[in-house]
Amino acid sequence: MASRLQSTTLLFIFFITLILIPTRHAIPFIVLHGIGDKCSNRGISEFTEVLSDWSKSQGYCVEIGDGSWDSWTMPLSEQTSIVCEKVKKMSELSNGYNIVGLSQGNLIGRGVIEFCDGGPPVKNFISLGGPHAGTASIPFCGSAVICILLDSLIKFGIYSDYLQEHLAPSGYLKIPTDMSDYLKGCRFLPELNNEINGMRNSTYKERLASLQNLVLIMFEDDTVLIPKETAWFGYFPDGAFEPVLPVQEVNIYVTVI
Ligand SMILES: *[C@@H]1O[C@H](CO)[C@@H](O)[C@H](O)[C@H]1NC(C)=O
Repeated sequence: MASRLQSTTLLFIFFITLILIPTRHAIPFIVLHGIGDKCSNRGISEFTEVLSDWSKSQGYCVEIGDGSWDSWTMPLSEQTSIVCEKVKKMSELSNGYNIVGLSQGNLIGRGVIEFCDGGPPVKNFISLGGPHAGTASIPFCGSAVICILLDSLIKFGIYSDYLQEHLAPSGYLKIPTDMSDYLKGCRFLPELNNEINGMRNSTYKERLASLQNLVLIMFEDDTVLIPKETAWFGYFPDGAFEPVLPVQEVNIYVTVI
C-alpha cells in the first residue's frame, strides 16, 4: 500500500511520525485535507493510514460535507464549525488530540484551535503548507467545471459578500495592495489572525499559544501559495508584493502568534 505513495510524502510522514510518537497509544490525531480533496480519495486515506501505522496512534480524516465541492464553495467559518461539532462528538478525542493539516485544511485546523468553544483540547498542530498569513493568488484550479465557474465568480470582486459566501479561498486571499478591502470584506483570515483593530480577541492567541508543539512545514518549491513563506507565517508588507517578510516582521506576529 505504502509503495503507491511518493517518496517525498513518505519522508513527511516519517517526520510527522517522529512528532506523534512520544504520545503514541495515548493521543489520536485528525487529518484535515486540502482544497478539492476528500477523505475517501486514495492519497488522503493512505496518508492517514500510514501515519497511523507508523505512529501507532489512531488517525481519523474528518470530512466536511461532500469533501471536494464543499471545500471550494463553503465559507471557512462554516467548515470550521462543522469540524468543531464533529470533534466534540468524537469520544475518542475527549482526552486531547493532535491535528495534521494539509494546505487549506490548516486554516480550518487553526480555526478549530482558536474558535471551537467547548471542544476537546488540541495538543499538537502539524501544518503542511498552510496559507497561514494568507495567499496573494487563488490556488491553481485547472479547467474543471467548477474552475470555469470560479473564474466567472471572481469578477464580482474577491471581497464582495457574494464571493465570501460562495468561494472558500476568498476567506484567506490577501492582496497586499488592497488591505483596506481585505480587512473590511474578508470574513475569515482577518479574524483568525486577530488583524482587525478593536476586534482582537486575546482568547485566540492564548489558545494557539497553549499548544504543546506547533510544527509549520513549508514546501521549498511551493508554487501554489504566494508567497510560499506564508506556511511559516511570513508575508508581503502592506501595500507591496515585495519583499517577503519573515514572521517576526509581519503585523500578525504580535497579534496571534
Ligand atoms: C473571544 O472568543 C472566545 C472564543 O470564541 C469567546 O468565547 C469570547 O466570547 C470572545 N470574546 C469577545 C470579547 O468577543
